[in-house]
Amino acid sequence: MKLIYSTDEILADGPYARLNFFDGRRLHGGFDANGTYISPRTHERWPAIRAWRDKLLAEGGELIDASTQVLRVPHYPSPAQMKLLLQHDVTLPLWNSLSIIGLIEGRGRMLTTVTAPDFQSMIDGDISGTATAHLNKGLLRSHGLDEGGDGTHRIGAHDAMWFLVRDLALGEHLHPIPEMAAREVRPGSDLREMPALLPEAEGLIKLLMNVLMVEIRAERGFAFHLALFRDKELFTGRRDRAELAAMIVSQIRQDEAPHVAYLQLLISEMRHFQFRTPGGRIQGRAIIDPIWTKVSAWHANQVPSIQRDAARELVKECLAHRKDGTSLMEAFDRLDSDRQRTVN
Ligand SMILES: [Fe+2]
Ligand SMILES: [Fe+2]
Repeated sequence: MKLIYSTDEILADGPYARLNFFDGRRLHGGFDANGTYISPRTHERWPAIRAWRDKLLAEGGELIDASTQVLRVPHYPSPAQMKLLLQHDVTLPLWNSLSIIGLIEGRGRMLTTVTAPDFQSMIDGDISGTATAHLNKGLLRSHGLDEGGDGTHRIGAHDAMWFLVRDLALGEHLHPIPEMAAREVRPGSDLREMPALLPEAEGLIKLLMNVLMVEIRAERGFAFHLALFRDKELFTGRRDRAELAAMIVSQIRQDEAPHVAYLQLLISEMRHFQFRTPGGRIQGRAIIDPIWTKVSAWHANQVPSIQRDAARELVKECLAHRKDGTSLMEAFDRLDSDRQRTVN
């Protein structure tokens, strides 16, 4: 089983029968001879992630499960609520959320510039055949390129793809590009929470824990957008374009799977390692688990609650000046799949 890969191998594309072009614009990834979409930079990256995962499990390690808790929180607004808005020509909430997803994806480009500390120097045993040892050998770089491209706009990555999705579904320049709200930061996350580790190791692990949670929550968004774009009663004047938007969302969804897989594996490996610290050897799970519990709870509960209040506030503003605004707002709230959380 091959466990050690070069940076070039982790970043390797294709082989593609044809590249991914949309309306004359090059997007990342490509297609095989059957027309099946192949995500960018996954030719060796996927087999590598699977090999490292098998190795961890063979050594008695276990994979963390973050999905169950997080995916209990429904998407807000629900597809039925957004459908109601769209059927009454209230398009700003969908426009804004698609724009902001694109802007957040663009920010993901920063992963191409992140350098992980030398974990081998802190850990007992040889870690060369692990995801951890490949962070600086293409894993972080390929992730950042998937999200935000290389900055040249030559090949469209997720940021460009979400903007394209938005414009296909709603039309170009329908509304202005919204300002991004300040990022929600977990209280206490700027303090030392893993004192056994060097600050740069703690910082990198917490950064990637947060990215993992954002990736897992994004899965809710894929299901939400696919349900909307494939609804035959919506985007009625532009059904063909809405179907194309759904196709691009499916491609993005496929690209995200290796991100979740390597980050889940990374945190799992960290739990399995024996760390050498000034106070002696410590099992990784003693360092990781208390913080992972806090990070996942923050993203599972507080973040959706903050975002939900902001989303509902925007809907209220959109409806405030309409004659039918009050009744529409009541109908919108009645369709809330998680009504007990609604705050007036
Ligand atoms: Fe992405
Ligand atoms: Fe991602």
